[in-house]
Amino acid sequence: MPGLFFRLAALLILMGAGAGLARLLGRAATGLALGIVLGGLAWLSWDTWRFLRFQSWLRRLHGEPQAAPPRLSGIWRDTSERVARLLRRQARLTRASENRLENLRAGLQASPDGVIVLDEKTRIEWCNRTACRHFGLDARRDVAQSITHLLRDPAFVAHLAARNFESALALTRPASVAAPPLRLSVRLCPYGEGRLLMISHDVTAFEQAEAMRRDFVANVSHEIRTPLTVLAGFVETLQTLPLADGERQDYLDRMARQAGRMRGLVDDLLTLSRLEGSPPPGLDEWTPVRTIFRQIEADARALSALATGARAPHRLDFPDADALARAGEIAGAATELHSAFANLVNNAIRYTPPGGGIEIRWSPRAGGGACFSVRDSGPGIAPEHIPRLTERFYRVDAARSRATGGTGLGLSIVKHVLQRHEATLAIESVPGQGACFTATFPGNRVQRTAV
Ligand SMILES: Nc1ncnc2c1ncn2[C@@H]1O[C@H](COP(=O)(O)OP(=O)(O)O)[C@@H](O)[C@H]1O
Ligand SMILES: [Mg+2]
Repeated sequence: MPGLFFRLAALLILMGAGAGLARLLGRAATGLALGIVLGGLAWLSWDTWRFLRFQSWLRRLHGEPQAAPPRLSGIWRDTSERVARLLRRQARLTRASENRLENLRAGLQASPDGVIVLDEKTRIEWCNRTACRHFGLDARRDVAQSITHLLRDPAFVAHLAARNFESALALTRPASVAAPPLRLSVRLCPYGEGRLLMISHDVTAFEQAEAMRRDFVANVSHEIRTPLTVLAGFVETLQTLPLADGERQDYLDRMARQAGRMRGLVDDLLTLSRLEGSPPPGLDEWTPVRTIFRQIEADARALSALATGARAPHRLDFPDADALARAGEIAGAATELHSAFANLVNNAIRYTPPGGGIEIRWSPRAGGGACFSVRDSGPGIAPEHIPRLTERFYRVDAARSRATGGTGLGLSIVKHVLQRHEATLAIESVPGQGACFTATFPGNRVQRTAV
């Protein structure tokens, strides 16, 4: 209001000054009127000049939003200050909303799931890094592209066309992307007006675990059914046929062998499930390596005698007492370590023909840690089998393994135990010349005895 008053006052003063000047110059009435008009025009020019400065500032704001308003007076100063305040407020609001958007995007970027924002025409508006990895997209190049141009899987195209928002679709990562195949579960979530959020979840590991579980159950069932069928056959024979004492004894021995096989399998399965279900052994239980070796050696000699009869026993070569005294202690679960070492020694005895040599060693490593190794002179293993030996139920020769009381689970138990002790298993073999299994333990698990 005061601005308007001053503005009117300025106009009147200038017009009055024009009239006063005309009067001073002694002009008549027309001169007076002309003076007033000239005064009015002078005011208009001055006001227009201020308006033009204001307008040029407004134009400048496009390229330079922070530009300071010109120094003006009267209502132009009020107006420009108000506009500047409004612009500052607007800029603050824009910055806040940009920050919120940026945070939202950063949150979606951090998602382990792929996120793609699709517009009403199913064109990509935005996607996160995981989605780029899942579908081989480029977040910059592919923006505004239709998703069906980039993801041509017919099942996906049909799913999108059907606007199926209820169920997830299982997809295999497009074959054109140079990476191992991925299994993805894709879900479309509608929002806004016809827009879609596309979420992709990597289910490769889950599907592999499912497949492994199915295989495992099938394998276990098969392994149990075979001795069970044999056992049932013998029971039926005993029930139906009159047998001489010797024959009856023979049948009972065979039944005991089948029952033993089943018990061995159940024992191994329980060992595996215990290994999977318990926390890894810490560093607070230390056992002398000598104690473990003593037990293994006694078991090995008994098994070897059983396997070879008295014909041609294996040449079993264990470290001598001095070497074992120097071996020190090992940290971890003693029962697990014993079971892993015994499995390796048992395999060597079972697969090495009578008279063959088996060498068991404990060798400290220069940089710390130690290796437990079992070297045999048996038939060895062809290279193509080596990477798969630690898979459950994987055997090179299933019949031979079963005949010697194997379950096919021994090396997977060994692998599990070693992993829990941060140790690694190396298998070397030249077919026909024997095999060498080496478990290497890290320095923090081995304490050497000073001598
Ligand atoms: N010392 C070895 N010499 C030759 N083959 C071996 C030896 N140790 C293991 N294998 C092979 O690895 C397979 C898997 O071993 P493992 O898991 O212990 O099962 P198994 O119960 O059959 O012994 C065995 O069936 C055998 O074919
Ligand atoms: Mg075995």
